[in-house]
Amino acid sequence: MEARNDALSAEILKEKLGQNIEVFHYPSIDSTNNQAKRLLSEVNNKKFLVVADTQTNGRGRQGKSFFSPAFSGIYMSYVFHPMKDFSSSVTATTAASVAVCRAIEKLTDRKPEIKWVNDIYLDGKKICGILCEAISDFETKTVTSVIVGIGVNIKTEVFPEDVENASSLGADVKRADLISAITKELEKIVDCGYNSFIDYYRAHSMIIGKEIDIIENSVITHAKALALEDDGALVVELENKKIKTLRSGEISIRRI
Ligand code: BTN
Repeated sequence: MEARNDALSAEILKEKLGQNIEVFHYPSIDSTNNQAKRLLSEVNNKKFLVVADTQTNGRGRQGKSFFSPAFSGIYMSYVFHPMKDFSSSVTATTAASVAVCRAIEKLTDRKPEIKWVNDIYLDGKKICGILCEAISDFETKTVTSVIVGIGVNIKTEVFPEDVENASSLGADVKRADLISAITKELEKIVDCGYNSFIDYYRAHSMIIGKEIDIIENSVITHAKALALEDDGALVVELENKKIKTLRSGEISIRRI
């Protein structure tokens, strides 16, 4: 059941965000990222936002699904058109986690942390997942559109058995306020350049100095997380003391 005063609509969001962004709201959709891709041809190179009360096929990274129950979290996809070369969009994924943490810190007293690349944790449990997808033009070697898909559990209490170590923000925050705060933070980063946020990312990282497992093609490698480069790449020391730089992939923190 939708809580009182927690209404979500395109009008409410447009009022908070201003008129220069198109907003699409759906009571239920398969995935806001899928819908964003379907809308791309309609929205003619303008930035836009897709939100839903619930997703029937919410997608996560590595082919996983994202549990998206009605009214207890936010499910949003922010789409912008960088028209830049491939390398400059790599950091969009890092930028998104900074936008989410900044928005949470502005609206609540919670202290979120970032698990590389872009999962948001609270008290050791995941409360937000981010799936960034790029549409590129191989002729011009540019990224024409980036879809930043963000799901935050606000008050979800019961998760399916196969969803490990998940939790919720547990703060009294309205969905429309959180979506608009995240969107505003994303816009600041997109407009002001990526180097404006990496120090914040480092300060909120929960992995530096920790023993981690790197998961690549189902193979697990032990390593120690050493540092984050300016573009968000993770520098690790392998067990054979070799230094490796990871630009994508999945890691988990080892419980020793
Ligand atoms: C992950 O944890 O692996 C990423 C989860 C990303 C979920 C969000 S919810 C809104 C958007 N639409 C989707 O289908 N996925 C993203």
